[in-house]
Amino acid sequence: MAKMSAVEKFFVNRKNRSLHEILADLDGSLAISNASKVLEVGAGAGKLSLLLNEKYHPANLFVTDVDEEQINLAERNVKERYGSVPTNLRLEKADLLDLRYSEESFDVVFAIMVFHHVGGKNLDAALDNASSVLKVGGQLVYSEMFHKRKIKDYLTRNGFTISFSKSHALGLGELVVATKSLRNPDGECRVETV
Ligand SMILES: C[S@@+](CC[C@H](N)C(=O)[O-])C[C@H]1O[C@@H](n2cnc3c(N)ncnc32)[C@H](O)[C@@H]1O
Repeated sequence: MAKMSAVEKFFVNRKNRSLHEILADLDGSLAISNASKVLEVGAGAGKLSLLLNEKYHPANLFVTDVDEEQINLAERNVKERYGSVPTNLRLEKADLLDLRYSEESFDVVFAIMVFHHVGGKNLDAALDNASSVLKVGGQLVYSEMFHKRKIKDYLTRNGFTISFSKSHALGLGELVVATKSLRNPDGECRVETV
């Protein structure tokens, strides 16, 4: 597991302003309703999850991270905010390189500053996993400072449509919303109509 360094942890767990900025930027670009099932991978301290929960009230929000310490911290932050863990929130350890969720089960997957942690050689596997748990028509929302071209190439190759993209100042990199297409890259329909 690519754990954060103590220094990175310090900064990531304190930052909040940039997460508000992300949500403000995404205003009008996200297809989340109170019926949505949302996954945040690499959720860290769970701060974006809290903001998402309060803004969109999704039916289910899975707050996950590979690092148990981060999940425990996220749980403490959730309890500090609400007194207990709300029934629509699920906090659990999950590795983006070994995601155990059902295929096409989430409406939106968030990965904010996570992909660089898996390393360049695991990038396609991480994107395959994020893509596989996303419903057709669902949105992958990520921000990344590294491998930006490589990620976009993957998305284009795999039939995603990029509907939002913005470069941020230091610390957040590029924020992107990509929608999983109805069609695979060969142009064949991924879902059968009845
Ligand atoms: C830079 S932090 C970002 C945290 C949070 N998304 C934010 O923006 O505040 C990266 C997070 O990704 C997690 N992470 C690293 N590798 C991961 C993996 N393979 N699967 C899931 N999470 C991972 C780290 O533990 C860390 O919490």
